[in-house]
Amino acid sequence: MFGTFAAVVEINYKFFYFSMIDKLVQLKESALREIGATKSAGELEQLEIKLLGRKSGELTLLLKGLKNLSDEEKKSAGQLANEVKGAIEKALAAKKSELMTGEWKNSLEKERVDVTQPALPVEERGHFHPNTLVQKDLEDLFTSMGFMVLDGPELESDYYNFTAVNIPPEHPARDMQDTFYIKGHSDWVLRTHTSSVQVRAMQKYGVPLRAIVPGKCYRNEATDPRHEHTFYQLEGIVIDKNISFAHMKGVMQAVADHLFGVGTELRLMPKFYPFVEPGVRGELTCFLCHGKGCRVCKNTGWLEVMPGGMIHPNVLREGGVDPKIYSGFAFGFGLTRLVMLKYGIEDVRHLESGDLRFIKQF
Ligand code: DAH
Repeated sequence: MFGTFAAVVEINYKFFYFSMIDKLVQLKESALREIGATKSAGELEQLEIKLLGRKSGELTLLLKGLKNLSDEEKKSAGQLANEVKGAIEKALAAKKSELMTGEWKNSLEKERVDVTQPALPVEERGHFHPNTLVQKDLEDLFTSMGFMVLDGPELESDYYNFTAVNIPPEHPARDMQDTFYIKGHSDWVLRTHTSSVQVRAMQKYGVPLRAIVPGKCYRNEATDPRHEHTFYQLEGIVIDKNISFAHMKGVMQAVADHLFGVGTELRLMPKFYPFVEPGVRGELTCFLCHGKGCRVCKNTGWLEVMPGGMIHPNVLREGGVDPKIYSGFAFGFGLTRLVMLKYGIEDVRHLESGDLRFIKQF
């Protein structure tokens, strides 16, 4: 009785063993088939989990049955299981590299660039702002006369903008109405003119000095067709021994000829600016009516575009220049004004508006 029982148990064991061997062989076959049929890396990844996943992979579940076997059977079934696992892993790896090269080739094909294809025609090219056009034109003229082109900060100290160029504290230019001051920084301003670079230039380069400073300036204006809070000026400064009013007049005439044509007349009328002595407002015959009087020159025949003068000794001293040895002249064109005159722009606000309908006309 016991013998029979033992035999049944024995048979059951054997059955279990053989079915385990069978299942392992089957698993290997089906796994290799499935791997072979896989078409994408994602699919392959899923399959790997299904077969070898640590928690519920098919092989893992099968191996849980090992514990029911005798030691000897465990050994041989375990060996077979390892072989199956190895075969599956190898097949997975081979398939993976096959798929990857395939996908890589596909993506390369997609990204292929035909370098022999003729370029498409460029429909729209960018171009310079009218302000930049006039600025570059004047930079060319001045560098041809030996001037440096300098730059300076737009956020400027009260000192360089006012004090250094002889503008006393009570001067109206310092008024809150005209100047943008910076909250929390009582000694900073948005520069109101490019004259703020005069003393900076003297301090940095010393004398003799010949420089222009084109750049942006700001004033707290109630804007209208002739006034804008942001505009451009072009400052000029020349310092050397024996520089006279005649040199200034010569340079201004050269600029006038260049901008408005040879034959343009220049006249100098006295005008006060704190940083020059004497100071002038330089006027040119109107380029449109040649002095007869028209809409552009408001019927005067003259355009007031060239303020300047001989640099005040106080300003030279601020720059570390001895006014007994050196003299010089300075001027400050309204670059924005010149742009408006040159292109017949009726409203200054167009220039900073960023309106493409305006910009595209140049
Ligand atoms: N800074 C003056 C202004 O903004 C323009 C000017 C006048 C500049 C005379 C100069 C000068 O250098 O000599 O109105």
